Amino acid sequence: MLDLGGVTIHQSCLDRAAQEDLVAQLRDVAREAPLFRPETARGRKMSVRMTSAGAVGWTSDRKGYRYEPRHPSGGAWPAIPLALLDLWRAVAECGTPLDTCLVNFYGEGARMGLHQDRDEASTEYPVVSLSLGDQALFRVGGLERGGPTRSVWLASGDVAVLGGPGRMVYHGIDRIRFGSSDLLPGGGRINVTMRVATAVSGSSAR
Ligand code: SIN
Ligand code: FE2
Repeated sequence: MLDLGGVTIHQSCLDRAAQEDLVAQLRDVAREAPLFRPETARGRKMSVRMTSAGAVGWTSDRKGYRYEPRHPSGGAWPAIPLALLDLWRAVAECGTPLDTCLVNFYGEGARMGLHQDRDEASTEYPVVSLSLGDQALFRVGGLERGGPTRSVWLASGDVAVLGGPGRMVYHGIDRIRFGSSDLLPGGGRINVTMRVATAVSGSSAR
């Protein structure tokens, strides 16, 4: 276990067989709710392609970042893969079940700028992040933009937990090492973040 500015990283949390199972389940998710490239409020396309599973999913367009009960195409989001519910129970240290998981796909050259995860109704619940496929350079800062940052390479099967004092830290992905893993036949990286998006503070079943 590694601590990076309040973010806990569990290395090799999932073995290869579990990673392969999950990739198959995430393919089913993407078949039902196709990956799309969200647009930022300023009208720029993000470099990652994404989708979600759960009661709500994350979308973004010129109206801003938010959770919606439907995929942009109008359909409901697929169910969250059972293995992710288990993973949440094992590492989140949170009695409230997740209600969404965001699936980000990083192709060659994709990245994600430093940001805080602040679209959830409450920041009381952790965000649990799973890496699959190519290695990614994960940058973690503090609670203010522009402060010092530290970086670590995340590998396939690693899990990062942003909770407690680390819940609101700035974080992002500088780049991936395209082709560094053979988990995804075409290369690339999948990141899954498990979250409690709609529950409000104080409703924790803990
Ligand atoms: C995110 O912050 O939403 C994604 C982080 C990652 O890809 O590891
Ligand atoms: Fe994030």
